[in-house]
Amino acid sequence: MKNLLNINDLSKDEILKIINAAIDSKKNKKHSIQAKDKTLAMIFEKSSTRTRISFELAIKQLGGLSIMLDKDHLHLGKRETLADTAKTLSQYADIIMMRSNNHSTLENLAKHSSVPVINGLSDLSHPCQTLATLMTIKEIKGTLENINISWFGPISNVAHSLIDAANKNLGFNLNIYCPKYYQDVYFQKLKDMNKEISLDKINLRELNLNQMDPTDVIYTDTWFSMGDIEDSTKIEMLSKYTVNQDLMSKVNSDCIFLHCLPANRSQEVSGEVIDGPQSYVWQEAQNRLHVQKELLLKFL
Ligand code: CP
Ligand code: NVA
Repeated sequence: MKNLLNINDLSKDEILKIINAAIDSKKNKKHSIQAKDKTLAMIFEKSSTRTRISFELAIKQLGGLSIMLDKDHLHLGKRETLADTAKTLSQYADIIMMRSNNHSTLENLAKHSSVPVINGLSDLSHPCQTLATLMTIKEIKGTLENINISWFGPISNVAHSLIDAANKNLGFNLNIYCPKYYQDVYFQKLKDMNKEISLDKINLRELNLNQMDPTDVIYTDTWFSMGDIEDSTKIEMLSKYTVNQDLMSKVNSDCIFLHCLPANRSQEVSGEVIDGPQSYVWQEAQNRLHVQKELLLKFL
């Protein structure tokens, strides 16, 4: 396997190996320079804080270097086809990471690139985020076995990759609490993209605050992803999905809160929760770096 476009590109063993290696190297503060003189090209069609910084630092700490390519400063899709850009970049870089508006752009890039391509977020999925999230859960809970993860809100790219991971039988159970409207939006998106995913292992339903299953992890994402238009009807529809102190008081006291970030403290999560003692979002953000290092080593 050459590329990481979705979690599904990794086997269960590969996922566990990446997570465990990231935990070990973080603990041992090891700085191997196993990617000495290797070059990572990073293309961004959308903005980023964590993905950009963690990949840039990861390749640097491994002894290599990165080139940051903003879509506005490339010919990409304007004066040059994506295929020609992919073939050119393959002559300079040893690996490419791309954040794309459309997942099909990533697939096309991977098709024409002779070096590995890593998905740094697309409208479909965010596999690097899922690996860092699972690493964080393993660090805090000591295991993924029988851990109950509850997702709140629209099934975003981040949630899609979590579903992909749940389908790998990594030991955790996934509950998704999502309004019916957003469940349909997700199914329509998959249909439009010609993608399939099994939901057999997932417990998907609308939220009833008095009938929640036991949960060890509450996880959410922004209600409006990059490029989405905010709309007051949707905010109203999602209002009971806000992860606030009232919701946290209904679950176990050792339940942790995670968020891929960036967060909106007046929508999907309250300030009290994200900045409170049950929140591990900063550890999760830091773990992006440790996971990226293992991913670079694996794919280089
Ligand atoms: N979680 C995440 O990918 O953050 P950025 O958008 O800042 O990269
Ligand atoms: N769903 C969000 C994730 C950001 C990391 C978005 O696509 O904007």
